[in-house]
Amino acid sequence: MDGLDVTACERCPELCASRSRIVNGVGPTDADLLFVGEGPGANEDEQGEPFVGRSGTVLDDALREAGLKREDVRITNCVRCRPPENRDPTTGELDNCRAYLETEIERLDPELIITLGKVPSEHLLDRSVGVTNEAGELFDVRIGESAYRLLVSVHPAATLYDQRQTETFETAIANAAELAGIGESESGQSRLGEY
Ligand code: URA
Repeated sequence: MDGLDVTACERCPELCASRSRIVNGVGPTDADLLFVGEGPGANEDEQGEPFVGRSGTVLDDALREAGLKREDVRITNCVRCRPPENRDPTTGELDNCRAYLETEIERLDPELIITLGKVPSEHLLDRSVGVTNEAGELFDVRIGESAYRLLVSVHPAATLYDQRQTETFETAIANAAELAGIGESESGQSRLGEY
């Protein structure tokens, strides 16, 4: 409970009917890094926490490799209710959940937002994104009233289907740690001002 939790929402009738629970973001509300996924899957719907299934294990491993701890970063999703059959959230569902995400971003005011996969990358950059090509790249983005730095990453699940994506994913997470000046390779200094 951090004041950012949505406890009741009926905006998306189809998601309300299929969800077990609303899955809110986790992690400190003053975290430097905010990871944004697409939406809860079956494990997240069951446990009520983002990225706790196989994708979560891949994310946790990459964080550890980069010298980061899951407890020190914030992890959330574009939509907070599991889409049935793990389909992508619709534009309407993304729009319905947007205010919750914007509030979370504004409250956190993170050094860096890392979008995990195509859906969150396109949602927050508001354009089509080739995640494999753009992974590890840094963009300026306006969200609500403020400007943020955003780093695109492939989705951790992509590494489960295609081993070649593992290096792309791990490099993006290592870049994120280095840019924010945290983790093992840290100089203790954020490098975001250089870009
Ligand atoms: N995939 C996502 O995009 N989010 C989760 O929370 C889990 C898997």
